[in-house]
Amino acid sequence: MPFNTALTRKLGIRVPVVQGGMQWVGYAELASAVSNAGGLGILTALTQPTPEDLRKEIRKCKTMTKNPFGVNLTLLPALVPPDYPAYARVIIEEGVNIVETAGNSPGPVIKQLKAANVIILHKCTTIRHAQSAVKLGVDFLSIDGFECAGHVGESDITNFILLSKARQTLEVPFIASGGFCDGQGLAAAMCLGAEGINMGTRFMCTIEAPIHKNIKQTIVDASEHDTELVLRRFRNTSRLFKNKVAVEAVKAERESVSGKFEDVAPFVSGKRGRQVFLNGDKDFGVWTAGQVVGLINDVPTCDELLKRIEKEATDQMTKIRSLYVTDAEVGTVGNNVNNPGAELWGVGKSKL
Ligand SMILES: Cc1cc2nc3c(=O)[nH]c(=O)nc-3n(C[C@H](O)[C@H](O)[C@H](O)COP(=O)(O)O)c2cc1C
Repeated sequence: MPFNTALTRKLGIRVPVVQGGMQWVGYAELASAVSNAGGLGILTALTQPTPEDLRKEIRKCKTMTKNPFGVNLTLLPALVPPDYPAYARVIIEEGVNIVETAGNSPGPVIKQLKAANVIILHKCTTIRHAQSAVKLGVDFLSIDGFECAGHVGESDITNFILLSKARQTLEVPFIASGGFCDGQGLAAAMCLGAEGINMGTRFMCTIEAPIHKNIKQTIVDASEHDTELVLRRFRNTSRLFKNKVAVEAVKAERESVSGKFEDVAPFVSGKRGRQVFLNGDKDFGVWTAGQVVGLINDVPTCDELLKRIEKEATDQMTKIRSLYVTDAEVGTVGNNVNNPGAELWGVGKSKL
């Protein structure tokens, strides 16, 4: 049964599931597959070396799906920052009207995109940042709990608290991000007030994700303990897959006498991380993954995954409905509302 939430209505999608931006993963192959399956696929702008390359990727994605898709624009501190206004301009010129923003000081880019009526999903890990983004006029918040892959922030608040806090305090609709992989998670997120979910790691482990099959199998084999928090000391914490290099990076970070980033930099090279996805050697460099690796057990197509999530979520909600009764039903045959312990523990049925 299709869902009808603020997210599905505003974006024109069937399943309230967004595929979050993913560096070196969010190409047209994956984004179009997610959108064709009824979710929102997202291209990652910075996987493209230049704004013109992004234009080509957007055009490619348009040939692969007729459904809505978005672009992720991540604003991270850099000595020489990418030309963000130029990337945003290409997005607008190509008529993509959904953008996931993330990172620091998104104000100018959001202003530029909003002026062109682009729908903004802004991803953040604290309610304070969410409130700042609300002032910038974003349409949705994507609330990223501490479980998530990638930049977890420095507050370490997990989704059970973060989502309820979002429900209590935000006037803008939000989706839940970090730790989701199934329909039970979607149902739980909705119970906490979210209009849908955002998933990253789960989508890495699909047939269409353009990464080496060894890495997908590594995720299937992993447990929820297999992530590592790197760059804590520099207040730029990233949750990465716990491989040999990530463990060495944490050691170098802890043991660095100077406390300078240069001591850790060789271990966290983005170039080597990118190679992991191409050569399938999980220990070649650091790569991003969330704690949800412990819940992922297969490599389905995006279509199979989203159909399964939709069914699991509706089944779960039906099951929850069967867990309570109306006042009129209290005490009638078949439930034990007046004395729940009796049948449950066999009291009254045996002489014990
Ligand atoms: C391989 C990988 C790369 C990612 N790269 C980015 C990125 O460039 N920008 C961004 O905003 N989020 C990035 N993320 C975070 C995801 O968009 C999403 O917020 C996160 O994966 C949610 O947590 P989950 O993995 O538990 O579903 C990345 C995640 C993964 C797994």
